[in-house]
Amino acid sequence: LLVNVSESSSRPIPDTLFGIFFEEINHAGAGGLWAELVNNRGFEAGGPNTPSNIDPWSIIGEESSLIVSTDRSSCFDRNKVALRMEVLCDDQGVNACPAGGVGIFNPGFWGMNIQQGKSYNLVLYVRSSGSINISASVIGSSGSQSLATANIVASASDVSNWTKAEVVLEAKGTDSNSRLQLTTTNKGVIWFDQVSLMPLDTYKGHGFRKEHVEMLEDIKPSFIRFPGGCFVEGEWLRNAFRWKETIGPWEERPGHFGDVWMYWTDDGLGHYEFLQLAEDLGASPIWVFNNGISHQDEVDPSSILPFVNEALDGIEFARGDPNSTWGSVRAAMGHTEPFELKYVAIGNEDCGKKNYLANYLKFYDAIKSAYPDIKIISNCDGSSRPLDHPADYYDFHIYTSANNLFSMTHQFDHTSRSGPKAFESEYAVTGNDAGAGSLLAALAEAGFLIGLESNSEIVEMASYAPLFVNVNDRRWNPDAIVFNSSQIYGTPSYWMQRFFRESNGAILHNVTLEKNSSNQLIASAISWQDSEGNKEYLRIKIVNFANNTVYLQISVVGLDLNSTQFSGSTKTVLTSSNVKDENSFMEPRKVAPIQRVLETAGSNMDVVLSPY
Ligand code: AHR
Repeated sequence: LLVNVSESSSRPIPDTLFGIFFEEINHAGAGGLWAELVNNRGFEAGGPNTPSNIDPWSIIGEESSLIVSTDRSSCFDRNKVALRMEVLCDDQGVNACPAGGVGIFNPGFWGMNIQQGKSYNLVLYVRSSGSINISASVIGSSGSQSLATANIVASASDVSNWTKAEVVLEAKGTDSNSRLQLTTTNKGVIWFDQVSLMPLDTYKGHGFRKEHVEMLEDIKPSFIRFPGGCFVEGEWLRNAFRWKETIGPWEERPGHFGDVWMYWTDDGLGHYEFLQLAEDLGASPIWVFNNGISHQDEVDPSSILPFVNEALDGIEFARGDPNSTWGSVRAAMGHTEPFELKYVAIGNEDCGKKNYLANYLKFYDAIKSAYPDIKIISNCDGSSRPLDHPADYYDFHIYTSANNLFSMTHQFDHTSRSGPKAFESEYAVTGNDAGAGSLLAALAEAGFLIGLESNSEIVEMASYAPLFVNVNDRRWNPDAIVFNSSQIYGTPSYWMQRFFRESNGAILHNVTLEKNSSNQLIASAISWQDSEGNKEYLRIKIVNFANNTVYLQISVVGLDLNSTQFSGSTKTVLTSSNVKDENSFMEPRKVAPIQRVLETAGSNMDVVLSPY
């Protein structure tokens, strides 16, 4: 392998190249990245007609002791459903309530992870026909051990109208399968609405689960595409993600049923929170908005204007002046300064649909005229022939076998260097090769990404998909990060991305593999400076996609040998004894990078690459 680091055979990689794509799929957000512990906190998931299903809330007590239903008496106009609990038993006498009282409990998203010493903020809205004495407790999986408890007590006059109650629960035990219960021994009628339990300890205090964001931080994403692909479209437009329904005080958000991935979200993780997450990660937000097209229905170009205005409003919300109509709503939510929104995508995977192009042009013209600097992403692939419409970027999605993806290393070699840039916004090996996330998949993806590095004059952005899966609701396989209520690990495809985390904005050097007859090797070399600009590092990445050991001689030319330090060089390897190996909660790092000192480091060095 010949690596030439001289200036003449080097060029910069765009600083946007590798980022992430967050989709609300697999309970990635609700019950995942978003730290809310209560599932269906507003009792809206059962639909607007009452009585409704309160699932996953359950009842504590017999029918003779309480009747639980829903009605439309909430104080929140956009989510009218509230829970009505008629307690028939009393604190004493012949109809005394059972010990511990009667009430309701919420299991969270397949169990609430409550940790000893941590604090949890409970907020609920309550109304009653009389005085209330409610015990709010977190109960461990045994069903009897209380990990934290508080009493909510109020006189009849205090709760005759809807009242907000807020208490902090301090956990005195740990259980990853806990539940929240609200019980009483007082006869009367109590209504509950918008019951939220949030850990106080969230990422930057912004409501994100820390472990989730830390894993994202660790791969240094330059952008975050959000809030999804199909999730944005909806199976039907009436169930699509509509940003205006996801902003403002969380209690007032209506929530919606995502009918592609088939679950309810309270939309606590909404348009504002996505922009905040991008800012927290130091990543550019890339907003995919609904363009009036779902999987099943499309808005006609003659009536698309309201959707265009909705998109313009969403941009104004993100980056408008705090005195503008929507910028002021953002400011009221706590972010006076505009967010740095520079990219939007008009829909997802809608190219070729009847109204896509006609509608696209209306969005395009309106956005460019109001925000000339915003870069617009088309759903149509321009990698093999020029687009027939204006765009700054075009989307390219690829889910395929390992061999196919590895061979697509050269996909963009012949793409015209003029015209819009490519955004490889969804890529992954899927199917048998990938299982639930195999080494084989990661190797093919690494080869593909090396191809993108070398074509980064035309490919400016790339992101793996999907990002997260809650194992209790696996809608798509594989995914980069797997979690449940208390555990989290990266699949080999996650760890693969770590090898590219210094690539954004680095210098790409020319590499030549002199003997590579089977084409099963692919390599790249980059260099970059540390954040202080004191040291410059060289990284050579090599994928051995073959089932045999490779003895490789590496020569680096163009180094200034007087100032180059070889000691301290390392070799980081991602491999395993079986190419189909996967990680799991039991063995979260079965396939993970291992870093060792590279004893042979020099401008001429021998390295051994094990199979795969
Ligand atoms: O990443 C999963 C899905 O794959 C996305 O929602 C969609 O854009 C693609 O079809």
